[in-house]
Amino acid sequence: MSGINELSQEIRRLKKEKNALILAHYYVPLEVQDLADSVCDSFAMAKLAAGAAEDLIVICGVRFMGESAKILSPEKTVLLPADNAGCPMADMVTPQDVLKLKADHPEAAVMCYVNSSAAVKAVSDVCCTSSSALRIARALPQKEVIFVPDRHLGSFVAKNVPEKTFYIHSGYCPAHDSVTREDVLAAKASHPGALFAVHPECGDQVLDLADFIGSTAEILDFAEKTQAQELIIGTESEIVRRLSRDMAEKRFYEVKPRFDCGDMKKVTLESLFTCLDLEQYKVELPQEQLTAARASLDRMVNM
Ligand code: 13P
Ligand code: SF4
Repeated sequence: MSGINELSQEIRRLKKEKNALILAHYYVPLEVQDLADSVCDSFAMAKLAAGAAEDLIVICGVRFMGESAKILSPEKTVLLPADNAGCPMADMVTPQDVLKLKADHPEAAVMCYVNSSAAVKAVSDVCCTSSSALRIARALPQKEVIFVPDRHLGSFVAKNVPEKTFYIHSGYCPAHDSVTREDVLAAKASHPGALFAVHPECGDQVLDLADFIGSTAEILDFAEKTQAQELIIGTESEIVRRLSRDMAEKRFYEVKPRFDCGDMKKVTLESLFTCLDLEQYKVELPQEQLTAARASLDRMVNM
């Protein structure tokens, strides 16, 4: 089997035959997104996985997304097409780091970005995504908050929730962190009429130049609703591809060339086909981790 059409047809057939639900993140290749039941940001992905009727859930994304789906639907089979698709930021914090921060700040609540391992979620009080972080930080009863692992999202939250004290871990997303103020200024100089929409995983010098800051889904929504006809996009390149295809009447520009998440690109039509065919790679987690991590994800969904 070689052609994209033939492969896509086979994936649709297997999906139907196995009654699988396919959820894809906006950063995986467009041809994979096109085969999904839903294309979502991390928050919607967690919620849809939790409420799914199907027994087989395929998460077209990176490992922490598969783990979140498994934590919320432990009785279901959750598959990841690319076993080696991780998130470098999630790998920057360990449960031991969190326990050390807790020992240093015993009064603080631990808020972990969903881009973290199940083991880190298990020792945290509440999870958040980029779209729910501000709401959750404000709603927490504690006045002190430990935020892991993203230092950029952490400082964005701290800046917008000045009534609380934050202790922020030093992790970062290599792709979003690599955007510089100079990249933004150069893109603005090339496209003087364009608005700049950016993901909060970028650094504060970049966020300071933004017209809009939000999660992947929120950026897409902003792009659709704004009167502006031109936008510079400060997040992964697949978003620019998607916007350029779906809103051909507007112009979208990358803030810098090759803004790719290499791990998300490991999810291909080929790996999705093999995933459905062989029912691999199953996400498995120890029971005590499932239970403890569930509490912090449940708190996020309920808040
Ligand atoms: P979203 O929650 O905006 O989808 O972001 C996930 C992610 O990994 C961004 O790098
Ligand atoms: Fe992780 Fe960054 Fe890739 Fe998002 S874009 S999955 S934060 S490495």
